[in-house]
Amino acid sequence: MLITPRVFSGMQPTGTLHLGNYLGAMVNWIELQKTHECIYCVVDLHAITVWQEPAELRHAIRQVTAAYIAAGLDPKRSVLFNQSQVSAHAELGWIFNCVARLGWLNRMTQFKEKAGKDREQASVGLYAYPNLMAADILAYRATHVPVGEDQKQHLELARDIAQKFNNDFRASIVAQGFADGVFFPQPDPVITGPATRVMSLRDGTKKMSKSDPSDLSRINLTDDADTIAKKVQKAKTDPEPLPSDVEGLAARPEADNLVGIHAALAGVGKDAVLRDFGGQQFSSFKKALAEVAVARLAPITGETQRLMSDPGSIDRVLADGAERARAIAAPVMDKVKDIVGLIRA
Ligand code: TYM
Repeated sequence: MLITPRVFSGMQPTGTLHLGNYLGAMVNWIELQKTHECIYCVVDLHAITVWQEPAELRHAIRQVTAAYIAAGLDPKRSVLFNQSQVSAHAELGWIFNCVARLGWLNRMTQFKEKAGKDREQASVGLYAYPNLMAADILAYRATHVPVGEDQKQHLELARDIAQKFNNDFRASIVAQGFADGVFFPQPDPVITGPATRVMSLRDGTKKMSKSDPSDLSRINLTDDADTIAKKVQKAKTDPEPLPSDVEGLAARPEADNLVGIHAALAGVGKDAVLRDFGGQQFSSFKKALAEVAVARLAPITGETQRLMSDPGSIDRVLADGAERARAIAAPVMDKVKDIVGLIRA
C-alpha cells in the first residue's frame, strides 16, 4: 500500500458557488486533472454543521455538482461525489476526533468567525469540522489539496493530525507492515494563482463569501450577464486612476482585488493587466472586467442550468463517483482499524 500522488478537495453545498470558489480553487482543480488522479467532493456533511433546510440542501448538492461539471471537471477522469455517500469520512472523522487535541481546535480562526459571539450555541460539528476535513483528505491518503488561502490553517491541522496518528501508532503501523512507520502522508496545500484570496466587491479588506448579506459583494456562478455587469459597475473603488505597476496596488485593496480578478479571469499576471490599463480610470477598466467575466462565466452558468434540468443524471454521476471513492477509501479504513486495534469482519 504505497503512498502515491493523489489530489483531494471539496466545496460546501451552502448557497451557490461564487467567483472566489472558482478562481481560488476550481481553476486549479481543473488543471490538476491533466496530471494527477483527482477526487473532488461536495462536502455535504460539512454543510450541516450549520442549519440547512433539507430541500435546499438537496438542491445545493446537485447544483454544486452541476457547477463542477460545467466548469470543466470531468466525472469520467476524476472522482466526483458527495461526502455523505462514503461512510469512511464520518468513520475516520471520529477516529481523528480522538487524535486531535482541544487546544488545536481552539486555535481555529474560522470557527471563531463562524460561531460568532454566541459560541455556546454553535454545533459540536462546527467545532470538530477541521477533524472531518482531515478525514476527507486522509481517507484517500491524498497528498495534494488545492484550496484558497482561507483553508491554510485547516490544512496545517490536517498535517498535524496525520503526524500525531503516525507517532501515536508507530509500533502498530510497523507491525502492520509499514516498515518506515508512516501510514498517513503529510498532505501539501496547493494554494497558487493570482486569486488565492478573492475579496468582496464592496470591501476590499473582506473575503468574498457566500455568507455576506450583500449579494453585490460577490459574483455568483449563477449570475446572468446583466447581473455580473451591474455588480462590477457597482464594485467599490478609490478615486485614483489605476497604477502602472503592481507595487502601486499596495494599500489600495479594492484596486488590487479587481486587477487580480481580471488577471485570473484572463489567465495572465496582474502586471500584464496594468500594462493595458495603468493610468486609466476605473470606468473603462470595469467595462473590460465585466466583459472578461461574462465571457468566462456565462458558459458555465448556462451549462449548469442545462445539467440541473436533469437531476437524475446528476444523481447518477454522484452514485458512480461514490462507488469509486469507496473502493479507494475502504482498504485505507480497514488498515486504520487494524492499526488502531479495532476488530473487523
Ligand atoms: P468552502 O466551501 O468555503 O470553499 C471552497 C473552496 O473555495 C475557496 N474559497 C476562496 N478562494 C479564494 N477567495 C475566496 N474569497 C474564497 N472563498 C472560498 C476555499 O479556500 C475552498 O478551497 N473546509 C472547506 C471544504 C472542505 C475541504 C475538505 C477542502 C471540506 N473538506 C478537504 C479541501 C479538502 C470549505 O469550507 O471550503
